[in-house]
Amino acid sequence: MPLTGPKSMFEKAYKEGYAVGAFNVNNMEIIQGIMQAGAEEKAPLILQVSAGARKYAGQNYIVKLVEAALLETDLPVVLHLDHGPDFELCKACIDGGFTSVMIDGSHLSFEENIAVTAKVVAYAHDRNVWVEAELGRIEGVEDDVKAEKSVYTDPDQAVEFVKRTGCDSLAVAVGTSHGAYKFKGDAKLDFPRLEKISELLPGYPLVLHGASSVPQEFVEMCNKYGGRVSGARGVPEDLLRKAGALGVCKINIDTDIRLAMTASIRKYFEENPADFDPRAYLKPAREAVKGMVRHKIKNVLGCSGKA
Ligand code: G3H
Ligand code: 13P
Ligand code: ZN
Repeated sequence: MPLTGPKSMFEKAYKEGYAVGAFNVNNMEIIQGIMQAGAEEKAPLILQVSAGARKYAGQNYIVKLVEAALLETDLPVVLHLDHGPDFELCKACIDGGFTSVMIDGSHLSFEENIAVTAKVVAYAHDRNVWVEAELGRIEGVEDDVKAEKSVYTDPDQAVEFVKRTGCDSLAVAVGTSHGAYKFKGDAKLDFPRLEKISELLPGYPLVLHGASSVPQEFVEMCNKYGGRVSGARGVPEDLLRKAGALGVCKINIDTDIRLAMTASIRKYFEENPADFDPRAYLKPAREAVKGMVRHKIKNVLGCSGKA
C-alpha cells in the first residue's frame, strides 16, 4: 500500500467526529510499535517526523523505514513533517516523498507567517502534498522552532489566515503545550475558543499539538527505576475526546511515546543488570509503545476500525 495524503482521512474523521493520531517517529522500534498498534486496531495512522528526528535518523533512513512498514500493511498511512521551520525543509521533505508537511511560522508576525505558509502551499499543492500551518503559539520547545510563551489563536485571524494562505489544516493554540509539564494548576483547554474557530471554519480540519496525556503509570515507572520525572502532567483524556468532536481531526502525540519507551527500558535495566544486548531492552520498549498507541486509538482518538 503506497503512502496516502490526509484528505480523505480527515474528511471521514470530521464527518464522524473522531481524530486521527499523529505519532512522532525517530527510529525503527517506534515505527514498528505504532504500526502494530494500528494493525490491531485497524486504524488510519499519521507518522510524523520533526526537524530533530530528521537530523537524528536522517531523512533517507526514516523514509525507507516507513516504506518497509508499508510493505507489510494495508492501512492508510500519511508521512508528515512536524513543525517544519522554513520553506527549504518543507521542500526537502516534499521532494523526498512526504505526503504532508507542516510549516510552522507561528513565531513570526501574522504577515510573515502568511507569506511563508503561502509559499509552501504553492510548492506543495503543485505536487499534491498537504500543508498544515500554525497560528497562535503553542507553548514548549521543539528542536528548531521555539515558543516561549503561548498565545492563543484568534478565531477571526484564523479565518483570514486560511483564506489568504490556502493551507489545508490549521494547528490552533487553545491551552495545550509540548512536553511532559503542561499544567501547573487545573488542566483546562479553551473550548469556547475552539468551538468558535470550528464554527467559523465549517468542514475545515483543525490540529491539536501538545496532546500527550502523560500517563502517570509511566511517570511512576520512570521514577521507580531511577528516573527523575517529577510533577509531569498532560492533557486529561476526556478533554482530548471532547476536542475530537469539535473539528479537531489530528491529535499529536510524542511525549507519551518517549515516556513509554524510557519507563520500560529503565525497568529492564534495573531488573536485568547483566544484559547488554540492545534487542533485549528495545523489544519491551517497542511493546510499550504499541500498548500505549493502541490505548490512544481505542479510548482517546476513537479511530479504531476507521482504516
Ligand atoms: O512538537 C515537538 C515534537 O515533540 C518533536 O520534538 O523536536 O524534540 O523531535 P523534537
Ligand atoms: P506532546 O509533547 O504533547 O506529545 O506533543 C507533541 C506534538 O505536538 C508534536 O508536534
Ligand atoms: Zn507540535
